[in-house]
Amino acid sequence: MTTDVMSNVPVDDRITIAELTADPYSIYRKLRAETPVLRINSINRIMLTKAADTKHVKDNWELFSSDDPLTPMKRAFLAHTLMRKDGEAHKRERNAMAPAFSPRNIKGCWNEIYTQVAKDYVGRLPRGETVDLFSGLAAPYAARCLTYLLGIPEASDADMMRWSQTLIDGAGNFGNVPELFERSDAANAEMDALFDTCVARVKADPDQSALSVMVNADDPIERSQIYSNVKIAIGGGINEPRDALLTILYGLFTNPDQLDACKADALWDAAFEEGVRWVAPIQASSRLVMQDTEIRGHAIAKGEVVMTVQASACHDEDLYDRPEEYNIFRPKTPHQAFGNGPHFCQGTHIARRMLAQIVLPMLFDRFPNMTLPDPAQVKFWGFGFRGPLSLPVTLN
Ligand code: HEM
Repeated sequence: MTTDVMSNVPVDDRITIAELTADPYSIYRKLRAETPVLRINSINRIMLTKAADTKHVKDNWELFSSDDPLTPMKRAFLAHTLMRKDGEAHKRERNAMAPAFSPRNIKGCWNEIYTQVAKDYVGRLPRGETVDLFSGLAAPYAARCLTYLLGIPEASDADMMRWSQTLIDGAGNFGNVPELFERSDAANAEMDALFDTCVARVKADPDQSALSVMVNADDPIERSQIYSNVKIAIGGGINEPRDALLTILYGLFTNPDQLDACKADALWDAAFEEGVRWVAPIQASSRLVMQDTEIRGHAIAKGEVVMTVQASACHDEDLYDRPEEYNIFRPKTPHQAFGNGPHFCQGTHIARRMLAQIVLPMLFDRFPNMTLPDPAQVKFWGFGFRGPLSLPVTLN
């Protein structure tokens, strides 16, 4: 390791993206203890791993902009989405979508629809068989719920999953591989065509969906922004609930006393909150430094990009005892799995409802003796997004 003489920020040229993808938590533990502010050459960013620092960055949008110039997100989405905007421009677009996410709509509208979706999808699972809940439940359930929330129920689960992955691959296409952008261009064209049909429907027959509230607003935002923000929700609204559900199930199966307590006392909210803290579905976010500043005595120059690792913040020993353990009984402490500041996840309450209050209790109600026969077979994977690659359970 060397140190940048100008900024006094230590520089690492050993940690690889492959290592961060396979086993990030052991790396973050070491960084929190030794070099919590570290330039990592393989990711071309200064990585921040302490909870106080990630929160400071996310809360101060004027100093740390969301418009990270290093990601090819604009190219993939063919647009500048709300996730990369700041201040009033961001607020205007976030507010446009907000009515769809309101507590009133969650209770009065999405609860009933999501319960029906869960009944359909859990009802299809074959009793007595071993099924991978990644493809058998978690991914399609997340995709179907999202179609209703966004106002595009005409989209198939398979299309939603393909579009989501294509947008994610494009937004992560740092090597500018042409085929990845060709695929995201094709997906954008398919989504635009579908959205045109859905707009006609919600104009004629308004509902509570994000598309409907945006196009029927008194002073609507530009159509191009409506479409790009529905796309950002497709890109970011499937993987996280999918991975969270699988992570929570894995945490419970590998801690049978906690699973028993959950079943006995309906502790699903605690199981959910601990699951997203334990393995944050979105592990890291980046911010552009707008003025020369300082973090933990290190000079950080205007124009640098800092990476706030919320996965590491959620394991910070300053806040959590034995953070690497899944423990639904740990004292309640706010976590950063949903981010912080103006870009705090807009889908937080929706995710809690669809997982903790609907599908988890329903799944164990239908299969009270469900087991995970081979926990060692389950592999967690991912640097930006993280979760189990499969979860084969026996349904009894
Ligand atoms: C367990 C599930 C989820 C987790 C852990 C999660 C996590 C996050 C995080 C960490 C951010 C902030 C990213 C940043 O600061 O750069 C975010 C933003 C966002 N999330 Fe979620 N999310 C989840 C589910 C959902 C769902 C179901 C939706 C539904 C559409 C959603 C919609 C959004 C939107 C629209 C934003 C951008 C908000 C903005 O930029 O103002 N999320 N999410």
